[in-house]
Amino acid sequence: MTPHALLDQVKDTPSLVDFTTVMDVINTHYEYTPTLFKNGDVENSSGTNEGSCKIFAFAKFHHLSEAQTLALFGTYYRDDVLGNPSGSDHANIRNFMQTGWAGVRFESEPLKAKAPVGRLTTRTIAMQADTNPAGDIFGGWVLSQMDMAAGICAGQRAQARVVTVALDGMSFIKPVHVGDILGVYTRIVRVGRSSLDVHVECWVRRSRIGIREKVTEAVFKFVALDEQGQSMAVPPLGDLPEYVESDL
Ligand SMILES: CC(C)(COP(=O)(O)OP(=O)(O)OC[C@H]1O[C@@H](n2cnc3c(N)ncnc32)[C@H](O)[C@@H]1OP(=O)(O)O)[C@@H](O)C(=O)NCCC(=O)NCCS
Repeated sequence: MTPHALLDQVKDTPSLVDFTTVMDVINTHYEYTPTLFKNGDVENSSGTNEGSCKIFAFAKFHHLSEAQTLALFGTYYRDDVLGNPSGSDHANIRNFMQTGWAGVRFESEPLKAKAPVGRLTTRTIAMQADTNPAGDIFGGWVLSQMDMAAGICAGQRAQARVVTVALDGMSFIKPVHVGDILGVYTRIVRVGRSSLDVHVECWVRRSRIGIREKVTEAVFKFVALDEQGQSMAVPPLGDLPEYVESDL
């Protein structure tokens, strides 16, 4: 589930929210750093009650109301706490019901939206013509966007024509839909004599807006070619023009 789908569910059908799904969404889309946080009478030291820490941080990040925040705890809130009002378990939920946002304080920010690695090399919109019969965008179309962006990156680093010779670790993480903006990020991760490896990540903004999501990643291997089509040495870093961004 995407963060947006979860936020819609919290607003429209809060009684269907599942705690495990909430954790999955947060772990997939955010970097988490443990921190001390206070919640009413409860002081949670760094690294303890991490589920509560993540939920409060996620809810604060998205400006959720107290009722919507409680819904993120799923059955822990609906069954364990509401079903047993005089219980003493789930202290963070029970305290939040008493003191709400006024009682929540983080020592430092626990969540940060995950960001793409590499340089944004191309951007395009996925169109109807690029779909498969199921209505999702063809994997082959995404792959060609990645190959093009990686080729730009490798060609600039090699200062020469490059050809794709291999592809490693291709992973289609999430589907791409019509109307998504596809951003392709590239980074040189290895330079040999004539070959270069480019790490490529595709991220989308759904329906042209919304939170960025990583949809694919892979490592493309290229070889630099001379005028005769023979492999040629990649120039040293010091010989490159300023616009080439590479540490290798
Ligand atoms: C790229 C090509 C010219 C290399 O020819 P070659 O005779 O193997 O050249 P070399 O022996 O000089 O090797 C060149 C480099 O390519 C690497 N390499 C060649 N084929 C490779 C492969 N399949 N996988 C990984 N690396 C490969 C070698 O390790 C070497 O790397 P290095 O110089 O950094 O040490 C040839 O394989 C080719 O034309 N391939 C087709 C490329 C193409 O058309 N791509 C588009 C597909 S639609």
